[in-house]
Formats: sequence, C-alpha cells, structure tokens
Amino acid sequence: MKRAEIANGFNSEAVSRAVRLLEHGEVIAFPTETVYGLGADAFNAAAVAKIFELKKRPHFDPLIVHVSRKEWITTLVSDLPHQARLLMDRFWPGPLTIILPKSTRIPDIVTAGLATVGLRMPSHPVALELIERLGRPVAAPSANPFGYMSTTKADDVASLFDDRLPLILDGGPSCFGIESTIVSLAEGRVVLHRHGSVSSEELSAAVGEVVETTRPDGKCAAPGELPFHYAPLTPLMIITGPEQVENENSAFLSFTEPTRPVRSKHVLVLSRSGDLREAAANFFSYLIQMDRKGAEIIYAQKVPEKGLGKAIMERLKKAEQKRVVVIR
Ligand code: TXA
Ligand code: MG
Repeated sequence: MKRAEIANGFNSEAVSRAVRLLEHGEVIAFPTETVYGLGADAFNAAAVAKIFELKKRPHFDPLIVHVSRKEWITTLVSDLPHQARLLMDRFWPGPLTIILPKSTRIPDIVTAGLATVGLRMPSHPVALELIERLGRPVAAPSANPFGYMSTTKADDVASLFDDRLPLILDGGPSCFGIESTIVSLAEGRVVLHRHGSVSSEELSAAVGEVVETTRPDGKCAAPGELPFHYAPLTPLMIITGPEQVENENSAFLSFTEPTRPVRSKHVLVLSRSGDLREAAANFFSYLIQMDRKGAEIIYAQKVPEKGLGKAIMERLKKAEQKRVVVIR
C-alpha cells in the first residue's frame, strides 16, 4: 500500500507546501508537543468535514482549534473570563485546551453544533510555524482513526493513514506523548474534563481549586470521549506486576524496570527510572508497537495515580474497557 509522504517539518519549503494544502481545503498531519494532529483550516467547513471522513468517526465530535497567537482568541470566543486569561498566561503555549463560548467566526461543524469551542496554543515549533504562516486557526483532532490510540511519531501516522493524507509534517517524537488537558470554566471555577499533559496538581497550583467532572453513570463529560477511546486492537488488561501475567503469548507494558522475570514474549519498559513524564512520552508509541506483535493480550502495569500518572491511567482504563465491550 502506498504511504503518505513524510516531510521534515523544520524545513521551510515543506511548511510552505503544508500551508498551500491547507489553503486549498486539504487535511494534513502535523506534530504537536502532545500528539500528532490532523489539521484543516478551522474557518473552512468543507475542509473540516474531511477530517471526520479520514478519522472514520461515526458522528461529528468537537475539534480543538489551535492558534499561534493568544490575541486571536478574542475573535474566536464570545466571552473571555479572567480565569481563562490566567490559564492562557500560565500554560500557553502548551498542552492545555480551554473550552469557551464560541463566536460566530467558527463554523458549527468544528464544534459539532456546540455553543462552546476548545482552544489551545501548542508549543511545538513546527505547529506554531504552520499556523502562523497560514494566518488562521487550525482545527485538529489527534491523528488516529476513530477509537484507536493517538500517535506520537510521523511514521505511526503514515502507517495508519496509508495514502489518504497528502502530507505529514515530521517534527520528531511528541515530547509529552499524551493529549492536552481539557478544562472549562463554570462559575469562576476550573472544571477538568480530560486528564492530560498538564497535571491536575499543576492546574491547582496555578488557579486554586479544580473540580473534576463526575461521571456517576460512567459517561464522559466531553462529547465523543467514549469510555473505550484510545484502545489498541489487542485486548488489554491492567495488572499490578509481572506476577499476574498468565498468558505467555502476551506483551507486557512495564512502568519501571521489572524486579522479577516476566513471562510475556514481549516486554517494553515505559521508564526505567519510574519517571512519569518519560512514561507518558513513550506511552502511545509503545502501545502501538505492542499492538503489532500479534500477542493475544497486552498486560499493562498500573502506574502511580499522581501527576501525569492520572492521565496515563485514564487512557489505560479506557483501553481495558474496550476489551470488556468486545467480549460481551
Ligand atoms: O493534545 C491534544 O489535545 C491533541 C492535539 C492534536 O492538539 N488533540 C486532541 O484532539 O486530542 P481530539 O479531537 O482527539 O480530542 C479532543 C477532545 C474530544 O474528545 C472532544 O470531544 C473534546 O476534546 N472537545 C473538543 N471541543 C469540545 C467542546 N467544545 N466541549 C467539550 N469537549 C470538547
Ligand atoms: Mg483523539
């Protein structure tokens, strides 16, 4: 199968080609510091519709709008509470998405008909350069087919989309490796919708109390955040350590260096020193590698649920959930 062209995103001519494609209503893949994105001109509804076709999403799902300048926000939202400014000053450019009431400038397809829009200024130099040279915001979901894991490398994007993308800008591996943290504001408080690359502790330190969205019915607060998102095709089970490995035809995703022998055929270690930041950066690319091993099951070792560990565990639980759904 023919694969999409990968071009060096640090090459100015490659970025020019990407900008021309976006101007012509095409969708391209580009790097961000969290994960790779599938981008289209956020003001071009037809181009945005192509994103949904490419992802094979069964329904429209609101997309994050990426900017290269904080000043743009005033034309994209109908209200900018002072806490939003605080968050932008503290975390932008960076892996925080802020949900705000949208202005009419943003086509409804971008927000799937919602009155709010998720906004983010990425810090990856290639993403910033691309958006800045386009001169318009870029709507982008993570670059993965619906329900599959996000991608953190240009090569992984290429193998998942074959020749269905005209261009993939390569900006190296995404340094955070998990998606942005998503927050909204309600009555002056910061509401956390998705754990991500900014930890809830960092958020609290910056803005005080952070309220987590409660999901008493198991449903997620962000539309499109299905309980079994982010899943590999291979069934996944969360375990505490190698002693719980039962099936040898398996892959074991270890958090730190295993302290005892592992019976699994394939073993990958997220961070030998147990560093959550390093673990997050390796997370999706390791899971994608394991998904290709032909193993019957992926065992994933629990990580401590603090800092970025919460974001990793949120994704692991969703991947495990899919197994339950499939078996039933
Ligand atoms: O790190 C990231 O956020 C990456 C990079 C490319 O920026 N993007 C990303 O996009 O993860 P996506 O589409 O895969 O996930 C965005 C999530 C979706 O689950 C969507 O439902 C939620 O954000 N979302 C977007 N806009 C929203 C809104 N207005 N209200 C509630 N949820 C929203
Ligand atoms: Mg996604």
